[in-house]
Amino acid sequence: LGAKGLGCVDCHRVRGQGGEIGPDLSDVGAKYERVQLIESVLEPSRQIVEGYRPVIVATTEGRVVTGIVKSESAATLELIDADRHRIVVRKADIEERRASETSLMPDNLAATLSPDAFCDLIAFLASLRSSQQPFPGSDVVGPLALPHGFASRVVAEGLTGATALEVTPDARILICEQTGTLRVVEHDRLLDEPALCLTVDSEWERGLIGVAVDLRDPKTDYVYTSAVIPNPPRHRISRFRMDGNRAKPKTEFVLLEGDDQRHMGGTVAAGHQGGAIHFGKDGKLYIAIGEHTAGQPAQEMNTLLGKLLRINPDGTIPEDNPFYATAQGKYRAIWALGLRNPFTFAVQPGSGRIFVNDVGGVAEEINEGFAGANYGWPTVEHGPAKDARFRGPIHHYPTASIAGGAFAPRGDAVNLPKEYRAKYFFMDFVKGWIKVLDPEHVERVSTFATGLGRPVDLRFATDGALYVLLRDAWVKDGNFRPRTGRLLRIAYENKE
Ligand code: HEC
Repeated sequence: LGAKGLGCVDCHRVRGQGGEIGPDLSDVGAKYERVQLIESVLEPSRQIVEGYRPVIVATTEGRVVTGIVKSESAATLELIDADRHRIVVRKADIEERRASETSLMPDNLAATLSPDAFCDLIAFLASLRSSQQPFPGSDVVGPLALPHGFASRVVAEGLTGATALEVTPDARILICEQTGTLRVVEHDRLLDEPALCLTVDSEWERGLIGVAVDLRDPKTDYVYTSAVIPNPPRHRISRFRMDGNRAKPKTEFVLLEGDDQRHMGGTVAAGHQGGAIHFGKDGKLYIAIGEHTAGQPAQEMNTLLGKLLRINPDGTIPEDNPFYATAQGKYRAIWALGLRNPFTFAVQPGSGRIFVNDVGGVAEEINEGFAGANYGWPTVEHGPAKDARFRGPIHHYPTASIAGGAFAPRGDAVNLPKEYRAKYFFMDFVKGWIKVLDPEHVERVSTFATGLGRPVDLRFATDGALYVLLRDAWVKDGNFRPRTGRLLRIAYENKE
């Protein structure tokens, strides 16, 4: 633990070892989520732990001591100060006694740390847990039901505010935690160390909400993220270079900055953030951004809200974008508009077809993506297309909350029954199901799975295994609980 050099153990006990000025940290990973851990290291005085607020005592002889009260009798007060000295003051000598606003824990401990070392320290604190609490706040809709011959198992658990996942060409799985960490699953094991810790605004639906790699390039070591960053809150699309299972923060290259969310309106401005990013067949990076509950901006060409965007992987804007000639600046990235909350979308390998899952006000929609298309929100919400200005969905159902979508791989080598190959799988966050739609006959929709706890995203590995990300939590509000998320692997095991 690098924290030794930082003096943490001078004041804190961890598993029976260390000082006693501050609280025992053996279970601190269960007590707090990552953001709070970061806060308690960077700003110890912001929230002082009950029982550890120092007092400042001035004596009649003009001596001033600051420390945490360890014991108190009618005649004396025993304090421990920041230098770990025990000081006994006679009460008769006390002239003034008041509570301190400042923690005994110094606030500059992390100042000397590199971002990597700081990330390690926080990951270490998060790992300090005496008991593994299984899925607090679990909101499983029912027992998981799958078609005959399919089996599921839990690959990873304890994910905080899971939002999105990607399967890399070498079969690792990258998982976004809303609070800013990108986690890695390798050989079906969740690594303790995250690939990346981003500083994000994770209120409500904001946070780290999208991840992609360019699947057409098996050797790629770039990873792309979509996150809402703070001060002011805005989307940021970035590229990082991976080094093994870690992305170096120093390698961040910003591709696109979204609109300042303080000025965009919306009844719940931190809602409807969209977030998904994926590469198209054309090698361009597509980005979905929601309308922050503001409605009308989804129809306007001077905001990114309610749009599907298309940029080059280096952040420049392709000149063949549909509004390149008419829009200004970064808004030339707009590729399609009139969306409400395009939480996810998917690109079909081979055909390059793009299906956009748009969370609805009255209807959940799957829209097929076309350059320049307008899906009508908030002017109309489809149902079947009735208005020639707007493109209707290929599938819709009464409001719940549509979430992840993915195309199953095709080909005889894929371990999936024929009826599922090359089909579009989509899930609903509220209903807890996965359904299958035939892209060639979009009226053919059947149920694949039920009983999933707040599913958010899904992705196929090339062999046909389906990875399903369960959040098992609602938006990040005051009742939010960390570490409820799980990754399931669903595979066909009934081989003929
Ligand atoms: C000089 C003593 C001192 C040092 C050194 C110190 N701390 Fe603390 N720490 C405290 C005290 C006292 C508190 C309780 C008061 C507060 O909340 O700030 C505390 C609180 C905390 C908490 C919140 C614990 C809880 O149960 O809420 C965490 C986490 C923490 N420290 C981590 C660290 C880490 C990590 C380091 C090393 C980088 C460190 N501390 C170094 C004294 C110290």
